[in-house]
Amino acid sequence: MPNVLVIHGPNLDLLGTREPEIYGRATLQEVNQRLQQEAGELGIEVRFFQSNHEGEIVEAIHEARDWADALVINAAAFTHYSIAIRDALEAAGMPIVEVHMSNIHAREPFRSRSVIASIAHGQITGFGLGSYLLGLHAACMILAGKQA
Ligand code: DQA
Repeated sequence: MPNVLVIHGPNLDLLGTREPEIYGRATLQEVNQRLQQEAGELGIEVRFFQSNHEGEIVEAIHEARDWADALVINAAAFTHYSIAIRDALEAAGMPIVEVHMSNIHAREPFRSRSVIASIAHGQITGFGLGSYLLGLHAACMILAGKQA
């Protein structure tokens, strides 16, 4: 059974109350519950990690190498400038799916730059909670070798 780690970056612990017009009303716990349910239907194991600290996310990516087959990551603000997280993801040597709840290309110009995108398998952006669900499906497709 494939294992997928879902990583949430800074401020995503505030989901539900943080700018709900942009990020929706689901809390992080509800997002994770929905993902857990989807993982059950897809027949995969899923674990979750959230941190507001860059180094903790780097360490979680290092540790993921012992368990995960793929990573789904919403690095949040770190997306736009953290070379440390990018390097950790690259060193992980497994498929990376980058997700964002909002459409980062339709907001402030600084958000459209992702330092992760070029080492990710792909980027899913703008579908709210659905971005995570699509990200989980994408990880499964990649692991099953089911791409066209
Ligand atoms: C985000 C977009 C980022 O620009 C922002 O800093 C976030 C969340 C998203 O999910 O849309 O915190 O990654």
